[in-house]
Amino acid sequence: MCGIVAYVGYREAFPLILKGLKRLEYRGYDSSGVALLEGDKLNIYKKKGKVSDLESELAGKHLTATIGIGHTRWATHGEPNDVNAHPHYSNNRRLSIIHNGIIENYASIKQNLVKKGHVFLSDTDTEVLVHFIEDIQNETGDTLESAVKLALKEVFGAYAIVVMSADHPGQLIAARKGSPLVIGVGGDEFFFASDATPIVEYTKDVVYLDDYEVAVVKDGKLNIQNLDNTETIPYIQKLEMELETIEKGGYDHFMIKEIFEQPRSIADSMRGRLNAADAHLQLGGLNGYLDKLAAAERIVIVGCGTSWHAGLVAEYLFEELARINVEVEYASEFRYRNPVIRKNDIVIAISQSGETADTLAAIELAKSKGATIFGVCNVVGSSIARATHAGAYTHAGPEIGVASTKAFTAQVTVLTLIAIATAKRKGTINEEMYRQLLAELENVPQKVNEVFENASRIKEIAFIFTYARNFIYLGRGLNFPVALEGALKLKEISYIHAEGYPAAEMKHGPIALIDEDMPVVFLATKDSSYEKIVSNIQEVKARKGRVIAIVTEGDTLIPGMVDFVIEVPKVHEILTPLLSVIPLQLLSYYIAVMRGRNVDQPRNLAKSVTVE
Ligand code: M6R
Repeated sequence: MCGIVAYVGYREAFPLILKGLKRLEYRGYDSSGVALLEGDKLNIYKKKGKVSDLESELAGKHLTATIGIGHTRWATHGEPNDVNAHPHYSNNRRLSIIHNGIIENYASIKQNLVKKGHVFLSDTDTEVLVHFIEDIQNETGDTLESAVKLALKEVFGAYAIVVMSADHPGQLIAARKGSPLVIGVGGDEFFFASDATPIVEYTKDVVYLDDYEVAVVKDGKLNIQNLDNTETIPYIQKLEMELETIEKGGYDHFMIKEIFEQPRSIADSMRGRLNAADAHLQLGGLNGYLDKLAAAERIVIVGCGTSWHAGLVAEYLFEELARINVEVEYASEFRYRNPVIRKNDIVIAISQSGETADTLAAIELAKSKGATIFGVCNVVGSSIARATHAGAYTHAGPEIGVASTKAFTAQVTVLTLIAIATAKRKGTINEEMYRQLLAELENVPQKVNEVFENASRIKEIAFIFTYARNFIYLGRGLNFPVALEGALKLKEISYIHAEGYPAAEMKHGPIALIDEDMPVVFLATKDSSYEKIVSNIQEVKARKGRVIAIVTEGDTLIPGMVDFVIEVPKVHEILTPLLSVIPLQLLSYYIAVMRGRNVDQPRNLAKSVTVE
């Protein structure tokens, strides 16, 4: 969703902000803009469309300011156009603002300001906020910093903002509540951004702003206070991110780079945690919580999209290995119910970005009911990582493609580690099984590499089905969430309608859709439901459906029954999703590329959904 980049220091701000906005493009947006303090004038330049459109518009302009704010907007209030794009001016044009989030009570504030003579140019809630700040300054005669705080005390909703004033050269004021904001601390320069990707090139020293904190950079110094003026000492952390992890590195798209990174990202999610030779399994984040997990009567898993699918895989793992009852909930539904949380329940929140608004709200709700919350997040220092009591990072590295790929396999890997560790502590698996699972897990990265050997075959299949209008994905057991994930991947990047179902459910409705035009992807690996899946394949073939089957290598039965097969190596059944999902990611990617889609930034989608 929206992206923030701001800079104050000695460099030219415009090229730096533009580059930063490009780094944030993956978040999803529909317009962009910058405000620069040039002499004593705030000049705003903004444009509907891509950051490159803004760049072309400004090509040849002599923009030498060393302070500025920039934004990519994902429309909420008001259609995507030049006027609604950020930054916005205040009434007297001496202030400008960029904002991520939603000011829920903007309408009533706007009404009052209109009565006082304020003239609004856009339909946005953001413009109201900057007018409101100016109005408070006029009414109280207070400093800009106080006016910002007073305004923020009055607004409901979520925000990350940066405010720049023509009357205070060298000063930027930033604040957050519910939307992320990272401050990069360089020598004599400061960077503000929605995540660290625009910053890492310049400094690895960062401060993650907390909710209700206001950061002021003035006279080359950073000061952080809360809305009640209590000062906090900025806690500077070192970024572990490397620049090459946020660049395409020779690939056409981030998505394909990230798919091919999975042997490494899966290995990274186990690094330092698992050593099969010594039967060693330890997750630092579980320290002090493993007994709680082992004693849990119930685990409630919350997440959205792909993270929810990883939760469904975990349901099987915890039930099978640790014999714990698990419920997997869409965070967006959970947060608006009145869920029953018991004393010994554990809530696991799964999120790649760590910023998903619904998941954050679900965590807060579960917390308020006394639950212990465990987070499985990818982005270090993210809001969800900080809102949970304990957690384990997935260490997949930055995921830039909107379609989640390596984050899913890293989530499943970490959840598998947690389930095995819990089962061991509980005594629900024996030593032999424990050692076997650890050894098999260690081999997964190598096996993922073997799946890649089928990439050109998958490309051929993608070519045949490029213009299919629908797809059905079917799987049973651990392959059911994989079917859901395969369907989600296809629809989000190729815009082909796709449905995932438990294979046995087909007879209860979807079978009516089957004819010679319906491609059906079966997850048909050799596992405990193999015979059942074979019957389901026959039912589809009897109705002339065109079947693509993901099978275990060496399978001699299914290849004789279906139209296309893609083999994956044999693996312990528990670990199947880590391999069976890979061909589905590749199939979606190749189909989307062949259809000419914008694979990394599909229409209407945002990488992290920071509004509900
Ligand atoms: O960052 P999160 O894991 O919390 O994001 C959840 C979903 O928005 C995300 O998985 C989404 O469904 C992806 N686009 C799927 O590829």
